[in-house]
Amino acid sequence: MQQKLIYQGAEAIILQKGNEVIKQRIKKSYRLPEIDEKLRKLRTRSEAKLLEKASKVIPVPKVIKVDEKTKEIVMEFIDGKKLSDNLDNFSLKKQKQICLEIGKETAKLHDIGIIHGDLTTSNMILVNLNGDKKSTNRDRSKFKIFFIDFGLGFNRNKIEDKAVDLHLLKQALEAKHFQNWQELFNSILQGYSESKNFKETFERLKKVELRGRYKH
Ligand SMILES: Nc1ncnc2c1ncn2[C@@H]1O[C@H](COP(=O)(O)OP(=O)(O)OP(=O)(O)O)[C@@H](O)[C@H]1O
Ligand SMILES: [Mg+2]
Repeated sequence: MQQKLIYQGAEAIILQKGNEVIKQRIKKSYRLPEIDEKLRKLRTRSEAKLLEKASKVIPVPKVIKVDEKTKEIVMEFIDGKKLSDNLDNFSLKKQKQICLEIGKETAKLHDIGIIHGDLTTSNMILVNLNGDKKSTNRDRSKFKIFFIDFGLGFNRNKIEDKAVDLHLLKQALEAKHFQNWQELFNSILQGYSESKNFKETFERLKKVELRGRYKH
């Protein structure tokens, strides 16, 4: 089957082959070859492990194969809409429903001790579940939000890391979806309130934000 390049990033390329994608960590010539080899191997392994762990609580692409030699993860292709390009096109009501779901999923991820590390709408794919394209009420259609790209993720159960993850998400909304970002972030927090550490994390988030502000 033919492979199609669907994304070329700084660290990785993404190829699509039917209903699979291959995430390949590319060589970086500015690193010493031995270090580059080790780093790419570690990151490939770490991302695959996090995907597998996360799959127990939220929608993520299924890992099909990990190849530490070629630094590749073969995973399920998620046929949906990347949120960074599509969120703004939905009604505000639907945008809030989506953000509520993002908050719930982030809470589930944090509750099993995973920090995503790059929570932005570029790393989320929306999939409609009823396949009802003619639906007259799009607001009511069911959907799933897949989280992808655990390349910067790690296992840790610290409130600080959870608060920083939320802070990054807030900044991403502010930058990319600035029209309604405040309302949208409130929906995220509403969803996130299901986390067992909601109160502490929310309090810490306020501190993280103050810290950020004094830096400038
Ligand atoms: N399983 C998947 N199904 C569908 N599309 C995917 C999948 N994995 C990745 N993509 C697409 O490829 C893009 C890049 O993937 P990913 O976010 O994992 O790489 P990246 O780590 O951000 O790369 P870089 O950091 O080098 O920019 C995604 O934004 C998405 O559009
Ligand atoms: Mg990404």
